[in-house]
Amino acid sequence: MDFDTVIDRNNTWSLKWDDRENVEGKEPVLPFWVADMDFAPPPTVLEAIRDRAAHPVFGYTSVPAEYPELVASWYRTRYNAPVDASSFLLGPGCVPSLGIILRALTSPLAGVLVCTPVYYPFYHIIADNGRTVVRLPLGTSDKGRFYFDEENARRVVNESRAGGTPVEAVLWCSPHNPGGRLWSRSELHTVVSFCRTEGLLLISDEIHGDLAVSGEPFVSLAEPSFGYPQTVVVSAPNKTFNLAGLHLSHFAVGDESLRARLRKGLDASGVSQPNVFSLVAAHEAYRSGGPWLGELLAYLRLSIDRTVDVLSQVGFDPVRPDAGYLVWADARRVIKRLGLADDRELVQLLAREGRIRLSAGSAFGPGGEGHIRFNCACPRALLDEGLGRLASWMHERTS
Ligand SMILES: Cc1ncc(COP(=O)(O)O)c(C=O)c1O
Repeated sequence: MDFDTVIDRNNTWSLKWDDRENVEGKEPVLPFWVADMDFAPPPTVLEAIRDRAAHPVFGYTSVPAEYPELVASWYRTRYNAPVDASSFLLGPGCVPSLGIILRALTSPLAGVLVCTPVYYPFYHIIADNGRTVVRLPLGTSDKGRFYFDEENARRVVNESRAGGTPVEAVLWCSPHNPGGRLWSRSELHTVVSFCRTEGLLLISDEIHGDLAVSGEPFVSLAEPSFGYPQTVVVSAPNKTFNLAGLHLSHFAVGDESLRARLRKGLDASGVSQPNVFSLVAAHEAYRSGGPWLGELLAYLRLSIDRTVDVLSQVGFDPVRPDAGYLVWADARRVIKRLGLADDRELVQLLAREGRIRLSAGSAFGPGGEGHIRFNCACPRALLDEGLGRLASWMHERTS
């Protein structure tokens, strides 16, 4: 598969490429922030979209019975998780789906626990849907790896109860964005048992689950063996096959009554049929995309190695992700050495002077301060150009 060819994404209404600060006389800024990839999806998926586009009528769509079967079979073969096809519901993109889940399954103003730092739309999707964000900082090991701190979690839940905002749900990110952690089976059991004893709904966003690169398996909370009916797993083909602009997700909900409430929530939001192109693409991706994904993961592993190496060489402390293509790095030594105020100033200067755009860690909430996130899912030529610019900028600033 060709992941090396640079595809020009300029003027395609791409959030990542068309929202660039271009200063006259300087190189355009190269974007390594928004979490999509600069690769085409599997050729079979492109072909399926083109075939459908060749038919001129784009009326309402119905989901073929084989689609939930395909998703269930994906769970069985890739995660060894025997999830029944009848457990799946379809939603729009993951983030809007999280809003639907929160409205359908939690009370207005309810506390929703998020483990920080975390993918920043979690904060607004909770708050904008009239729920209350309750922040639980993840523990950090000396190597910068995050872990779930159960004792602290109990304390935070008790405090919100005492403060009149009882927590009703945990919004869990697995694998973790931005930290790239694959949670082990035993860590997931801890989270489940915490939710069970505290009586909390467990919502697991597993959108990066297909992108395990460390050799460890991804463990889905959709596995019936976790035995906790108050669990909703949300996932999507968006990250896996680079289809984020198509906005389609699925929920795995083992419990019948929870599923009925969610179905009502989808109806209340007027979400009944998916977009025809999303469905065609996702159907083909789950049907034939496995081998392409294998090659993608091999490519990403090398890109991650390269990114981690260069970041380390120029003074950052990167954490090699277990999953996904986002490299999280502690930038505090660099910030101090350059006499900067914080990660936001670092990221601003990198864009203005270094001509590369990264994500500032503090955008991800408590625990993210002093960090940066580098998206390395692009052809090597672009990655090398970006890493080269980073190294040159650091060199100029420090010499
Ligand atoms: C954890 C997580 N959930 C959801 C999304 C976005 O999902 P969607 O584009 O389907 O709304 C992202 C994108 O980066 C993500 O990292």
